[in-house]
Amino acid sequence: MSGEHKGGLEDVVVSTSDVCFIDGDEGRLVYRGYDVNELVEHSSFEEVVYLLWHGGLPSRKELDAHRKALAATANRKLPPKLLGILRALPKRTSPMEVLRTGVSALSAFDPDAADNSREATLRKSIRLTARLPTLVAAWERIRRGKAPVAPNPRLGLAANFLATLSGTRPSPLAVKTFDVGLILHADHEFNASTFAARVTAATMSDVHSAITSAIGALKGPLHGGANEQVMRMVERIGTPARAEGWIRQALADKARIMGFGHRVYRVEDPRAKHLRRLATELGRQTGDTSDVEILDIVARIVSGDKRLFPNVDFYSGAAYASMGIPTDQFTPVFAMSRVAGWTAHVLEQHANNRLIRPRSDYTGPTHLAYVPLDRR
Ligand SMILES: CC(C)(COP(=O)(O)OP(=O)(O)OC[C@H]1O[C@@H](n2cnc3c(N)ncnc32)[C@H](O)[C@@H]1OP(=O)(O)O)[C@@H](O)C(=O)NCCC(=O)NCCS
Repeated sequence: MSGEHKGGLEDVVVSTSDVCFIDGDEGRLVYRGYDVNELVEHSSFEEVVYLLWHGGLPSRKELDAHRKALAATANRKLPPKLLGILRALPKRTSPMEVLRTGVSALSAFDPDAADNSREATLRKSIRLTARLPTLVAAWERIRRGKAPVAPNPRLGLAANFLATLSGTRPSPLAVKTFDVGLILHADHEFNASTFAARVTAATMSDVHSAITSAIGALKGPLHGGANEQVMRMVERIGTPARAEGWIRQALADKARIMGFGHRVYRVEDPRAKHLRRLATELGRQTGDTSDVEILDIVARIVSGDKRLFPNVDFYSGAAYASMGIPTDQFTPVFAMSRVAGWTAHVLEQHANNRLIRPRSDYTGPTHLAYVPLDRR
């Protein structure tokens, strides 16, 4: 890399946006002007989705209509042929591969697929936000050789997802925790997956293509895949008694510790404390707090040694595990929430579009003479 840039587009401002604000020094996360701490306390995921898409909080009537649309069986149910595609996949296919394939395939069944107007993109965004949980739960059932559970239009998104995943009614604490997790993951400015969605949308491609790009970007372990890696670390550590020795050795080996560090936050990620509290409460309810105890020890040592703080992915896995969500479904669960932000950014990109086409700082040769094949 030549020149002064740090690589990875660090600190590069790509465009203006009204969707999300992060203050990395103060540790603040703001959706459309509202602090995420306030939203966690007073709001619901459905209301946050409305806020992100429409730019303001809904009236009671608007919220009721919006909740109804997100819960409608017509919007949640998967086309039977799509279930056929899922059943045709090898059972070992990872849930993120299934999600990427499923979202891409959904556009083939969408009546608005070719329409990029704001109204059509909003309709498609409702269907995508309503269907992602169905897709995630359906694959979990199919790969275990069980029949998918039909969505229940009387349940909100969090309760319906947990019910369709397990086939049993979830506890109120599990529903509350899951809903808070959805609120906390709903948007995060120009993170890698949102940027991927905006790059795709900026070619005036459609929302399904943009969300498929975003899912591909979210899948990597430096982004959404980190929550799964944190849980793998907890599994490897095994017991709280082994945590300190394990993490000190990992630091001595200069390993990258998943769930720590952030490109923007220089202090603790404001989302981590909520997930820690909820993971602890859930652990107490299920009578097993050992995952959170391990994480607390790891956090204390890494923060003290390296001045690196837990990010959103550090405690989320422990909370999801207490709800019986398999480790390789953590990143799809992240996507179920972030689809709200991705679609809000696609709407914003389309409303004021210019093709995103940066330049590279070329460092290769420029005047090589072509050598014929038989002289090389
Ligand atoms: C999030 C992340 C990709 C940001 O990366 P970045 O802004 O490119 O930062 P860098 O990778 O350049 O790291 C800067 C320094 O901090 C160190 N560092 C950053 N995150 C670290 C981590 N999780 N474990 C150990 N060291 C870390 C790097 O080794 C580097 O140290 P150096 O300057 O001595 O070489 C990075 O912190 C990371 O890989 N974290 C783990 C994965 C994760 O949790 N991702 C989810 C993000 S929400």
